[in-house]
Amino acid sequence: MQIIETIKETQDVVSGIRKSGSTIGFVPTMGALHEGHLELLRKARLDNDLVVCSIFVNPKQFNNTEDLDKYPRTLERDTDLLKSVGCDLLFHPSATEMYPEKATKVYDFGHLDKVMEGKYRPGHFNGVAVVVSRLFDIVRPDRAYFGEKDFQQLAIIQKLVQMDQIPVEIVPCPIVREPDGLAMSSRNQRLTPEERRIAPFIYQRLNEVREKAGTLPVGKLKTTIESKFKGQAAFNLEYFEIVDMQNLMPVKNWTDSPDIIACIATYLSKVRLIDNIILFRNFAPLKNRQD
Ligand code: PAF
Repeated sequence: MQIIETIKETQDVVSGIRKSGSTIGFVPTMGALHEGHLELLRKARLDNDLVVCSIFVNPKQFNNTEDLDKYPRTLERDTDLLKSVGCDLLFHPSATEMYPEKATKVYDFGHLDKVMEGKYRPGHFNGVAVVVSRLFDIVRPDRAYFGEKDFQQLAIIQKLVQMDQIPVEIVPCPIVREPDGLAMSSRNQRLTPEERRIAPFIYQRLNEVREKAGTLPVGKLKTTIESKFKGQAAFNLEYFEIVDMQNLMPVKNWTDSPDIIACIATYLSKVRLIDNIILFRNFAPLKNRQD
C-alpha cells in the first residue's frame, strides 16, 4: 500500500490509473478505523480496481475544540488495518496541505443541514462538504462509500454531488454494530469500561421504537423514549427525531411518508454518540428485520 501525503502525488497516481481505464473506489475517513470502516473498504475492494482511503481529521467540521483535540489518532494501527483489507493507497495529508488558504465556501443545503446534527453542530456539515468536495476533486473516484450511521451526512453528500454535478456514485453502506448492538464509532474508544457497558441502551431504545412504530402515535412514542433517557443519569439526550428519510423533516403521523427513520444523538458522560434505525421502507414496517 502506498502512503502519500501530498495532493500532487495523489493526483499523479490516480490520473495514471484513470488513463488505464481502471476504476477507483474511495473511502474518506478521519482515521481511528473500526470494523464499520473496514466494511466500506471491503465493499470498495470488491467493486473497483483501485481502492483509495483518506485519513484526515478535518478541523473544519469540528465546532468544539475539545472534541477535535480528543479525536483518536491511531495512524500505525490504521495503516495495518488498511493493508489487511487490500487498500492500495492511503492519502494522509496535513491541514496545511488540504487548506493552504482559508476555505470560505458556504453551501446552501436548505432544510437538510438545519435539523438534528445541523442544529446542534452549527457549521459542521459545511465543513464536511468543503473537505469531501476537495477530496473528490483530488481522488476523482468512480464510487465513494459512506456509512448509514451518519445518515444525515450521507443525505448532505448526496445533495452536494447532485448540486455540484460531481461525477461519482455514492454507495451507502449499512451500520456495523458490536455484538451488544452499539453502533461502531471511533468515539467508542473514549468510553470508560462502565460507560461502554451501558452504551447499548441507545440501540435497545431504537429497537423499542422499531417495535412500537405504527402502533403508538408518533408524538407519544417520541416522548416515551425521551423520558426513558431522562431516567438514565449517565445520558444527556440531545435529540431524538422521527423523520422522513428523503428530506429529514419530522413526521407527525406514520402515514406522512413511505420511508421513515428514527435518529438519535446523546452524550454518554462526555462522549457524543449518534445512531439511527429505519422504521418504514415503502410504508412497510421493518420491525422483524434482524441486523
Ligand atoms: O464521516 C467521516 O469520517 C467524516 O465526516 C468524513 C466524511 C471523512 C469527512 O471528514
